[in-house]
Parts: sequence; structure tokens; C-alpha cells
Amino acid sequence: MSESGAVSARDQSARLEEALADNASLRRHASSVAHDFNNLLAVITGYTEMMLKRLRADDPLRRNAEAIKRATEWGTALAQQILSGSRRSLPAPVPVDLNQLVGNVTRVLQPLLGDSIELVTRLSPSLAPVSADPHRIGQVIMNLVVNARDAMPNGGRLTIETGNVGQAVMLAVGDTGYGMNDETRARLFEPYFTTKEPGRGTGLGLATVYDVVTQCGGQISVTSDTGAGSTFKIYLPRVPEGGLPAETAAPPPVPAASPAESKTVLVVENEREVRDLIREILQLQNYVVLEAGDRDEALALSEQHGGRIDLIVVDVGIPPSFADEWVVRVRASRPEIKVLYVSGYLSDSAQVNAPKLGPLLQKPFTVGAFTKAIGLVLGRAK
Ligand SMILES: Nc1ncnc2c1ncn2[C@@H]1O[C@H](COP(=O)(O)OP(=O)(O)O)[C@@H](O)[C@H]1O
Ligand SMILES: [Mg+2]
Repeated sequence: MSESGAVSARDQSARLEEALADNASLRRHASSVAHDFNNLLAVITGYTEMMLKRLRADDPLRRNAEAIKRATEWGTALAQQILSGSRRSLPAPVPVDLNQLVGNVTRVLQPLLGDSIELVTRLSPSLAPVSADPHRIGQVIMNLVVNARDAMPNGGRLTIETGNVGQAVMLAVGDTGYGMNDETRARLFEPYFTTKEPGRGTGLGLATVYDVVTQCGGQISVTSDTGAGSTFKIYLPRVPEGGLPAETAAPPPVPAASPAESKTVLVVENEREVRDLIREILQLQNYVVLEAGDRDEALALSEQHGGRIDLIVVDVGIPPSFADEWVVRVRASRPEIKVLYVSGYLSDSAQVNAPKLGPLLQKPFTVGAFTKAIGLVLGRAK
């Protein structure tokens, strides 16, 4: 590296310090976006699952639907990651096999690469495990791969390599794309720095990479020239001999939500797909979900269940007024239980004797309307 290169590296680290100081507000913003994102993913997951249930095993569209589902699972993990990052609780490192992560990420991202990008992987068969958080490292690989793809709009070669280097494990992501000029190279890790058109780049990919890699004690190097492609190398600390220290090797299990927060909802719905979708949405919002296919089953479940049940979500059925009578029976043993009725088909006459013991939500409802209704019934501002 030339002398001017050394100075610009110092400038760069000063700018990074500043940028990282802004991280608190960045995280808050990320957290609210992640919440909305989670809701959208719940819808995608829900409908993909419904689609998968209807597709025959040999249907050619099955593979596409499965790919959507895997990608959505990744998205959900990422959203969760952002949410937990915003709470500043960094997960304890565990031994991670980078080769396996590379496999997972490339499997998910393969369709994004298209036919014009050749993917070459050179994975060391004797790779040492690294001490890190697998979700966050997966995010790092994903961001590097997406950038490499973006740098090769006319196709090229994407090379992913792993290897042991001293006490570290190296992961290299290289491309044969348009490369970078000096200005870009000096600023690329800054949050919100992007050379891409609005809507295509957020400028957060490499800021996240930097954050994750340095937080687990690793390093990054970049080599690139205009027109000659780029290679990002990250070096992560390998798991020390004898494994991780006892307290980090077995982190205490973290409950999805504190007991005070998670409420229990009993979903009564005879249509399996709809029930699955409702469960999916509720679980993503940290509700504990009990399910029943009909009211008799639900009543039995309510009587047997040892813990509390805060809410029942039940179809009103025909005639709607009978729904109230059923709720009265449930309340014989659970007087406090709240109810949200849902309905698909209310004729005008049925509207007249609509149930009175809880609000009624008309199907089909949006995820937003549904969670809002749940929140209102439970007395949460949502
Ligand atoms: N593989 C690459 N080849 C060329 N330029 C890159 C590469 N990776 C990153 N960059 C440059 O760094 C910038 C910041 O990257 P990133 O933080 O991931 O944000 P974004 O991809 O949203 O623009 C990009 O806009 C691009 O100019
Ligand atoms: Mg990017």
C-alpha cells in the first residue's frame, strides 16, 4: 500500500468511529423497519406454505415455492437479528463451520446469480471452526455475495474460498466485476455510502460486514482496481484449542420473549391452511399459540390446559349468535378470557344477530388488520 493509502486508511477509521457513534439511532431505525419486515415475511411465509400444501409432490413449481420458503426463513432470521441487535444483546459466539454457512448462503442466493455468473467455491476440507454467531456471519457472506453479483451486471465469475491462515480462518469472496476507484475504496464501509441508484443500494451492506467482523475480533481486507474485479477477505478467530470457555460454549437459552410479554392465544379454525397462517403470524409476534380444529376440541383443550389463555380467536359460523353461547361455556372455567371473532360470510340478516362478546373481523383480513385487532382486544397499543 502506498503512503497516501496509509493516510486514507487513518481517515477512514476516523470516519468509521463517527459513523459507529451514530449506530444507536441507526439501530432504532433498523428495529422499526425490521418489525414491518417481519409482518411482510409472515405473509410471504404463510402463502408459500399454503401453496406448498396444494402443489403435488411432482409439480415443477414446488422447487420454486421451496426456494421462496428458504429465502423467507433467512429473511426472518435476519429480521430477528436486527431486532436483537437493536436490543444490544450480542449473542454469545459458538463454534461455526464456515464451509457449511457458505453452502447455505449460496443455495439460497443461487437464483439471484442467474446464468451469466459462474459460481466457483474452493472450500478447505480441513477448515477450523470459527468462534462467532452463525446468523451474523451468514449475513456477512450474503452481503458480500450480493455486492459481487451487483458488480457483474454482464456476468462473470464469483469465487468463494475458505482456508486456515495461522490462528484465523479466512473467507474470500472475489468477483470479476467493475471494481472500485480510490474514492469508493476509501469509503465503502461507511454506513449509507453507496454508488448504486436509489432503490438499488442502501449502503448498509458493508457497514454491517464491518460491524460483525470487528465485533467478533476479526479483520477485513479489500483488493480492487477499476475494471479488474474485487476481492474481500475476512479473517475470523478460530475456536481456541480446547474449545470455547465454559460460559460461552453453552450460552443460557434465551426465551423468545419474557414471560410477562408473551400471551397465549387459542386459535379455533377448521381450515388447516388458514389456521397455519394465523399461527405463523402470531408466533412471529411472540404469542404462544394453541390450536383446535373445532369448538368441541377447543373447549376440551381450554379445560385441560394448565397455563393461562389470554385470547380465543374463533370463527363465528352460522348462526353467529351461537358463537356467544359457546364463549359463555369457555368462560365458565376461564372468566377472564378475551375473544376475537372472525368471519368469512356474514349475510345482512346474520349481521343482525352478530355475536356480542367480542369484536368481529371479516375474512380475508390483512396481517396488519389481524395483529392490530389482536393487540386491541388484548389491550396492547399495537
Ligand atoms: N464487489 C464489489 N465490487 C465493486 N464495488 C463494490 C463491491 N462491493 C461493494 N462495492 C462498493 O461499495 C459500496 C457500498 O457497498 P454496501 O455497503 O454493500 O452498500 P450497497 O451495496 O447497498 O451500495 C457499493 O455501493 C459499491 O460502490
Ligand atoms: Mg451491498
